[in-house]
Amino acid sequence: MTTEFLDRNLALEAVRITEAAALSSSLHMGRGDEKAADQAAVNAMREFLNNLSISGTIIIGEGERDKAPMLYIGEKVGLGGPKVDIALDPLEGTTITAKGGDNALSVLAMAEAGGFLHSPDIYMHKIAYGKKYEGLDIDPESPADDIITSFAKYSEIKIENIVVCVLDRPRHEMLIKKIRSTGARIKLILDGDVSAVIATSFEDSGVDIYMGIGGSPEGVLAAAALRCIGGKIYTKLIFDNDYDKERASSMGITDPNRIYRTNDLASGDVMFSATGVTDGTLLKGVLIKNEVATTQSVIMRSKTKTIRYVSASHDLRVKDIVK
Ligand code: FBP
Repeated sequence: MTTEFLDRNLALEAVRITEAAALSSSLHMGRGDEKAADQAAVNAMREFLNNLSISGTIIIGEGERDKAPMLYIGEKVGLGGPKVDIALDPLEGTTITAKGGDNALSVLAMAEAGGFLHSPDIYMHKIAYGKKYEGLDIDPESPADDIITSFAKYSEIKIENIVVCVLDRPRHEMLIKKIRSTGARIKLILDGDVSAVIATSFEDSGVDIYMGIGGSPEGVLAAAALRCIGGKIYTKLIFDNDYDKERASSMGITDPNRIYRTNDLASGDVMFSATGVTDGTLLKGVLIKNEVATTQSVIMRSKTKTIRYVSASHDLRVKDIVK
C-alpha cells in the first residue's frame, strides 16, 4: 500500500464511514434514547471501518475496553494495509440527537501511526480561536478576561462584538461571569464542543472564541480538524483523582500540568471527516424522506488544506442503513 492510498482514497472512504454512522443514528433522532442513537452510530462506524484496507488502531474511541465493547481505545480495525491511527466519535452529541436538537455530528479522524495524543476519557480545559488569528499567542492559564482583551487587541474586533462559545454547565459559572465582565457576548451551547471549536475557523459561524471544560476525546478530534482548516487550540487535562493520573501515565502522559496545543493533540498528516446528524452551524443534518436520505459531510486533509463538502443522496431501496 502506498502513501497515495492513504492520502486520496482514504479521504473518500472516511466520508462513507461518517455518512453511514450519521444515517444510522439519525433513525433515533428525537426518540429520547441516547444509548440507542449512540449504539446505532457505533455499529455502523465499526462495520465500515472493518471493511477498509487498513491496519487501524483506535486511539480515541468510545472508552476503555472494560467499559466500551466496541471501538474501544486500542481496538484494531480494518482488513490489513497501511498503519493508521484513528480518533472517532460515531455520535458527537448523543443528548442532542435524542432530543432532536442542533449540531450533532458523526466524526472520524485518521493520522499516521503516533499522530494522536493517547489520553484517557477525562475532562480538559480548552481555549480555541480561528485560523485568521493563529498568529496570536496567549498564556492559556491567564484569566479569561485577559485572554479576551488580548484577542480583541490582536483581532481588532470591538470587544462588544466578540462572541465566545461556552458549554452551558454549572462548572462554567465563574468563567461566564469573567467573559461577560469584558463586554463580550456568550453563545451558550447544550452540547457538542467539537463543532463549536471548528466554528471558530469559519468566519460566518458567528463564533470567535471557544472556552471551557469539555471531554478530552473531543479536544483531540477538534485539534485534528484545526490542523486541516487552521486555527489554534490550547488544552490542559483535568485529573480528578489518582486513578485518572495513573491511567494517563500508562498512556504516556507523565506531566499532568502540561499544556497541549493543536500540534501536540494531532500531529503529522491528518484527515478529518464529519457528517451532520442534525442541522448545525457547519453542516446540514440527515434528512430522510421515504426512500431517499440526504447527508452533508465535510472532509479535510492537513497536507493539502482542501476542505471538501460532500452532499449525498442515498436511495434506501438499494442501500441498507446499519441498525
Ligand atoms: P457526547 O456526544 O458523548 O454526549 O458528548 C457531548 C459533549 O457535549 C461534548 O461535545 C463535550 O466535550 C462533552 O459532552 C462535555 O461533557 P459533559 O456533558 O459531561 O459536560
